[in-house]
Amino acid sequence: MKKVLVTGGAGYIGCHTAKELLKQGFEVVVFDNLSNGKKEFVLGGELIVGDLLDKDAVRRVFRSGDIAAVLHFASLIQVGESYLDPRKYYGQNLISSLNLLEAMLEAGVRSFIFSSSAAVYGTPLHIPIPEDHPLLPFNPYGQTKFFVEKILQDYDRAYGMKFISLRYFNAAGADPDGEMGEMHNPETHLIPNILLAILGKKEYLEIYGTDFPTPDGTAVRDYIHVTDLSSAHVLALQKLLASSQSEFINLGTNKGYSVREVIAKSEELTGKKVPSRSKSRRQGDVPVLLASKEKAERLLGWKLRYSELETIIETAWKWHKKLN
Ligand SMILES: NC(=O)c1ccc[n+]([C@@H]2O[C@H](COP(=O)([O-])OP(=O)(O)OC[C@H]3O[C@@H](n4cnc5c(N)ncnc54)[C@H](O)[C@@H]3O)[C@@H](O)[C@H]2O)c1
Repeated sequence: MKKVLVTGGAGYIGCHTAKELLKQGFEVVVFDNLSNGKKEFVLGGELIVGDLLDKDAVRRVFRSGDIAAVLHFASLIQVGESYLDPRKYYGQNLISSLNLLEAMLEAGVRSFIFSSSAAVYGTPLHIPIPEDHPLLPFNPYGQTKFFVEKILQDYDRAYGMKFISLRYFNAAGADPDGEMGEMHNPETHLIPNILLAILGKKEYLEIYGTDFPTPDGTAVRDYIHVTDLSSAHVLALQKLLASSQSEFINLGTNKGYSVREVIAKSEELTGKKVPSRSKSRRQGDVPVLLASKEKAERLLGWKLRYSELETIIETAWKWHKKLN
C-alpha cells in the first residue's frame, strides 16, 4: 500500500481528495495547520497538525521514510486578500512550498502533485483555455501558483522532481455522501454564498459586476464538482507514479454558467429566493473563464461524473442544510 502526504488535507479540496485516496487503497497522512481546515474533515489515515512554515516539523513528517508522493493543497487562497497583503501571500505560499520541496529532496521523495489554478492564465486570449495558453497571472495569488510551477520545472530539470500541476477552475459542490463540504472563512465563493444567503446566514448575496460583455452581464465561470477534482488527483498520482512524466493539466468542464444562471438554478432547486445586491466588478475579474478539458481526459482517462450544475448545487445544499 503506497503512503502519500496530503498537505492541506483538512481543507475543502484536500479532504475530499484524501477520502478518494483512501477509497483507492492509498495510506494517507494529512499535514495541516488547521488555519482554514477542520479536523472533523479528516475521515481516515493520520492527521499531523503542523505548519509548512516550520521547516523542522515538515522534515519530521518524512522521517518514517515510507512516503511515496506528496499532494500539496495547503495555501492561502483569497485573491482579494492577496492584492491587499501580497507579502503574506508570497511569504506563505512560496516559502511553504519551498520548505516542502526541500524536505522531499532530503528524503528522496520525487513525486509531487500541485494544486495550481486557472489564475496562472490571467485574462484569457482565447476560450476554452488550453494548457499551452500564455501564462499571464495578474494577481499575487495567481503569481504564487505561477512561481511554484516555475520552481517545479527547475527542480525537475536539476533534481528529477517529477510533478503534475493541476490547474483548477472553480471547485464547487460537496461530498455526495454528505460527509464534508465547502466551508471557507471568510467564504468568497459563489455557490456557498448563495446558499448562505438563502439560509439567512448572510443578509444578501453580492453580485460583483453586472456590466460584463456576457449575455446577462454577469461573469461566466467553469464550475467543477469537488469529487470530480478528487478523482482527477488520484488518476494524476497513479499516472505520475507509473510514468514519472511531469505535466500541467487543467481541471474544468469546458461549460460555463453566469452568476445569474447559478442563482436561478439554486432558486429552482431549493425553492427559495436568493436576496442579492449588485456591486461593481472586483479588481482583475475577467468576463469568462472556461477550461479545455481535453488533456485531462486524454492523458488521465478522466471522466466527469458529478459536475452538472444541478448535482453541484444539490450536494452543496444538502451539506449546508446539515450544517445549519
Ligand atoms: N477552491 C477553489 O476553487 C480552488 C481553485 C483553484 C485552486 N485552488 C487551490 O486548491 C488548494 C486547496 O484549496 P481549498 O479551497 O481546499 O482551500 P482550503 O483553505 O479549504 O484548504 C487549504 C488547507 O491548507 C491549510 N493550510 C494553509 N496554510 C498552511 C500551512 N502553512 N501549513 C499547513 N497547512 C496550511 C488550511 O488549514 C486548509 O485546511 C489551494 O492550494 C488553492 O489555491 C482552489
